[in-house]
Amino acid sequence: EMDPTERAFQERIDAGGKIEPKDWMPAGYRKNLIRQIGQHAHSEIIGQLPEGNWITRAPTLERKAILLAKVQDEAGHGLYLYCAAETLGITRDEMFEALNEGRMKYSSIFNYPTLTWADMGAVGWLVDGAAIMNQVPLQRTSYGPYARAMVRICKEESFHQRQGFDIMMKMCAGSEAQKRMAQDALNRFWYPSLMMFGPSDAESVHSAQSMAWKIKMNTNDELRQKFVDQTVPQAEYLGLTVPDETIKWNDEKGGYDFAEPDWTEFYDVLAGNGPCNHDRLETRKQAWDDGAWVREGMLAHAAKKRTAKVA
Ligand code: 3HC
Repeated sequence: EMDPTERAFQERIDAGGKIEPKDWMPAGYRKNLIRQIGQHAHSEIIGQLPEGNWITRAPTLERKAILLAKVQDEAGHGLYLYCAAETLGITRDEMFEALNEGRMKYSSIFNYPTLTWADMGAVGWLVDGAAIMNQVPLQRTSYGPYARAMVRICKEESFHQRQGFDIMMKMCAGSEAQKRMAQDALNRFWYPSLMMFGPSDAESVHSAQSMAWKIKMNTNDELRQKFVDQTVPQAEYLGLTVPDETIKWNDEKGGYDFAEPDWTEFYDVLAGNGPCNHDRLETRKQAWDDGAWVREGMLAHAAKKRTAKVA
């Protein structure tokens, strides 16, 4: 049974009201938001690694500039989201420590390697496509700072997806070898992209409560279905084959029937056994250690300035 404060809070959310940092909120709401926003931020930062791998290998100067701009955008998205999470009372250092110690997650998709240039196309087209599918509804989430961060992030995401789809178009209209490379990238990124929407609704831990609090606006399966319905025609346009021969339009449902990802693989990657989990976390820890001297210098300088004022 809800106490009057909690009931008033829930009524405000049900009426589409925004909760701001200084407002009262149930401890569970705060905890759930720190979890989701913090992991969203980690995903943006770690998501830079698979693409960063190709900045020095881009086929043209134009492609290098576009990829550089996209990776820089992801860094900015991470910063907006860490700031949103900090308004809930957690520090950035605490979030980094939790990530490095495996107590916080990041999107499993980034534990797969980017082996060819076509992967830059598949990541933009599929991974950013899935991210857009998930982030657009989050612009209406109940927590003010998160909703506002989403508005800014969604503005940049459409460029991310279009530049990826453009790479795929160029390669599918290119030589046989380029087309094979694009098909190979689709084969490797299709199911991991479906996993970005989370486990099936039956397996989802947080969905019911997150939807009641408008921390989540749609269920995992709903958004996964929307993503498949949007992406299959795009693959056909490219002349590529989605690596799921069971895919079939279902008139009744008004959508495609499709094969679910391998959930054993999903939970295995979440447990840290994906192809790149170790490398991604090692890179993050190395960046943390390499940046220690900057943090120490800034703190020492701030302390000196404080004492100077007192003196
Ligand atoms: N990778 C890693 N962990 C995942 C996951 C995935 N693809 N899908 C689900 N999980 C985790 C959840 O975090 C949860 O674990 P936790 O309790 O330790 O946090 C567990 O699996 C059970 O899943 P639930 O469905 O119960 O979890 P959620 O209700 O949180 O739903 C979500 C998962 C849909 C990812 C939701 O958290 C969400 O919408 N997050 C915000 C968006 C986001 O983080 N997107 C990640 C990609 S961002 C990105 O790709 C950047 C782009 O610019 C490239």
